Amino acid sequence: MNIIIFGPPGSGKGTQAELIEKEFNLRHISTGDLIRNEISKESKLGKEMKEIIAKGELVPSEIISRMLVEKLSTEKINNLFDGFPRTLMQAKFLDVVLNIDLVLNIEVSKELLEERITKRWYCSCGASYHEIYKKPKKKGFCDICGKKLFQREDDTKETLKNRLEIYESQLKPLRDYYKMKMIKINGEQEIEKVFSDIKFLLSNFEKLKNQIN
Ligand code: AP5
Repeated sequence: MNIIIFGPPGSGKGTQAELIEKEFNLRHISTGDLIRNEISKESKLGKEMKEIIAKGELVPSEIISRMLVEKLSTEKINNLFDGFPRTLMQAKFLDVVLNIDLVLNIEVSKELLEERITKRWYCSCGASYHEIYKKPKKKGFCDICGKKLFQREDDTKETLKNRLEIYESQLKPLRDYYKMKMIKINGEQEIEKVFSDIKFLLSNFEKLKNQIN
């Protein structure tokens, strides 16, 4: 089973992907994480991508596809794609590589996204928090490893505006492309409730697949 988790910046893709990965036998592949990992190495490519994502622009598809193929070639298992595809070209590329079974489209209104993004905090161990909805036990420090939390450079109100504009411009073609496979998820509910809806869908996947076809 290969799944895509789709939605605007801050809709909860990463949060839900982490929960899905634990519950189901899926490998979480986040292109955003792959990019940030390359940036942390301070490589030439990382430096180029740092500038692009700080502006909220998309990294060129050739680079993304290359990073993805490297990741996919390590093992053949079921995948959960987060942040990929973002364009019609990336979607077509993915279809050449493997078969996508289901696209979960997390919907959240624009008004809520700003609060989700600007109050999000990360730890270098990969954990993420929110000042209101997923507070660390000790303010500013990670529950898991105790390190100091930080915010993403692209998590500002100004950059979010650009990220959202790009997301919206790509939404329609992708929604049309995946219309037979895409299922809407109400992302405005509490984290646990969103996950319970996804869990229900994935647990009943085969039954659901027959309903779609
Ligand atoms: P990427 O890392 O993919 O970022 P994004 O799509 O903008 O999404 P986010 O990671 O910001 O949000 P999310 O939906 O995962 O939300 P989260 O779960 O953290 O991409 C970053 C950049 O990389 C792009 O802008 C682009 O430049 C580049 N890039 C990446 N992929 C690319 C590609 N394929 N092609 C080209 N360029 C690419 O939740 C947000 C916050 O809200 C958290 O604090 C969380 O705790 C909280 N929260 C989550 N769910 C809930 C809830 N239900 N209720 C209350 N709070 C919640």
